[in-house]
Amino acid sequence: MNKGIAVYPGSFDPPTNGHLDLIERGSKIFEELVVAILRNSEKTPMFTVAERLEMLRELTADLKNVSLDTFDGLMVEFAKSIDAKCVLRGIRAISDYEYELQMALMNRKLEPTLETVFMMPADKYSYVSSRLVREVAQAGGPVKGLVPEVVEQKLREKLAPAYKLRDPQIIEVPRKRKKKA
Ligand code: PNS
Repeated sequence: MNKGIAVYPGSFDPPTNGHLDLIERGSKIFEELVVAILRNSEKTPMFTVAERLEMLRELTADLKNVSLDTFDGLMVEFAKSIDAKCVLRGIRAISDYEYELQMALMNRKLEPTLETVFMMPADKYSYVSSRLVREVAQAGGPVKGLVPEVVEQKLREKLAPAYKLRDPQIIEVPRKRKKKA
């Protein structure tokens, strides 16, 4: 167990099973893990910060050394304000690496004493991202298994009645009839 506080910053719009997997892994190696939601992202979020906080609160209720916070501006400044010594970020695939490396090195330039630690979520979540979850849900597709149930429910509420989340269905393709001789 690493002494001290680590921060896991992100948008969490919405939290996915991949995020939760990383939070659980992080909580095992850091004495205290602060999951921090960026408040002022340029993107138009699907969920308000309050909604994301509420979902994360429910999802992390059993993890005693995990707490939640929000931040604005530079992440390194927030990390400093809570005395965090490490930043936790997830890397799912090689495609994440370039962006994460760039961000970690920029953060190091801004605050050389803050270390970034990368962890990999379970491989079954390697393709899961908040963006794709939003896209699938908005198109009415199933997100079961990709997000926790509470998030699935919130997506259902958020997107209903314009869209309906369906369970996976087998679509039967009608067979061609043989022509009568
Ligand atoms: O979940 P995301 O959207 O990949 O998280 C990105 C996040 C929030 C960690 C990153 O955008 C961030 O730290 N933003 C705060 C602004 C900042 O500190 N920028 C300089 C770091 S490159």
